[in-house]
Amino acid sequence: MPLHKLADGVYEVGALDPERELFDSFMPTPMGTTYNSYIVRGEDKVALIDPVEQPFVDELFEHLDELGVDRIDYLISLHTEQDHAGSIWDILEAYPEAEVVATQQVQKLLETHLHFPKDKVMVMKDGDTLDLGGRTLRFHPIPFSHWPDNTTVYLEEEKILFSSDLFGTHYAKPGDNSANSLEQQEGLRSYYAEIMMPYRKQCARHVAWTRELAPRYIAPAHGPVWFNPEHVLQPYEAWTGDKVRRKVIIGYVSMHNSTRMMVEIFARRLALHGVDVITRDIAAHADSLTVETGVLVNESVDAAALVIAAPTVLIGPHPSAVYLAGVMNALKPKVRYQMFMGSYGWSSKAADTIVALTGDLKAERLDHLEVEGLPTEEDIERIHKRADELAEKILSIPEEDILA
Ligand code: FEO
Repeated sequence: MPLHKLADGVYEVGALDPERELFDSFMPTPMGTTYNSYIVRGEDKVALIDPVEQPFVDELFEHLDELGVDRIDYLISLHTEQDHAGSIWDILEAYPEAEVVATQQVQKLLETHLHFPKDKVMVMKDGDTLDLGGRTLRFHPIPFSHWPDNTTVYLEEEKILFSSDLFGTHYAKPGDNSANSLEQQEGLRSYYAEIMMPYRKQCARHVAWTRELAPRYIAPAHGPVWFNPEHVLQPYEAWTGDKVRRKVIIGYVSMHNSTRMMVEIFARRLALHGVDVITRDIAAHADSLTVETGVLVNESVDAAALVIAAPTVLIGPHPSAVYLAGVMNALKPKVRYQMFMGSYGWSSKAADTIVALTGDLKAERLDHLEVEGLPTEEDIERIHKRADELAEKILSIPEEDILA
């Protein structure tokens, strides 16, 4: 990544990883990602905020050489996860004078995950400051904006918020500093969906705190810096709030087209009512399971309903539907309604399994809809009726609860 100046003596010096295809080994990152690292120079001291994922540390060292950084006084770790703290030992080997600075929660996880000795960490509490000489870094934890340890530091004189994972984007385009292209907004949504959505309520509090702080720039740990914070605050306020769109997302798999037929009939009927419908076949191709599930996860950030549709394999749901159910259950979108539908050969316990797998979703569960074999005219009537019922529920959501 080219050096990126934010202010005099403040630079982004991290690494690009444009080839990364998956984050956390399941969420697609079609635009790769970055591991951001920041240098802040004061009159007396130099701080490095977060190192990078370990295999990318040479890129960070090149940037530090380019800037002529021959001394690091403080190595600030905002978050323990290996994509940030993974190269902490390399930094300390190159800059042995550096003192590691972190909150107690980071200190605890550094010991667990990187076997980093507790007594080598200078511990900071909420509101504590680090004086670099004419430059002040103020610490504020933002727990569960991914892990319990995520922390921000605010460079008071420049009004720059270093926000750790919060407000990040999986987006690695060298030289693209626009920070608000449609492409980047898509990366932002995908990032939010996987990393922040499971802790939506906590995240909403951190977003409100950020708005009150009113930083000039927001410098996250992934993707471009937000030079206009509104470009990230407004979407985050929409996603972390309780409002939804009149939108149904349907993830389906079909072996002999019966379930596909059910989904198509159901989706068309919903659309006739004016409800937006997103349908994705999660098993059409070898990589559909991760790619299409990723699309559904992205769309789930503001959807009103989730439908999982699958045929029965042996006695249970198709394994691809099990995967989708597991992912959605873990990421906890704010959908208000959920439903299972599918076709079976002669008997099925598929619905029971999907119900068990999605128990953490707070959404009202609608009766499942099952068809034996290929849908008949009678079945089509049933599918229409069930679509009408779901549409009525979605159209009944008060206007003040709907995202503009
Ligand atoms: Fe970017 Fe939670 O690590």
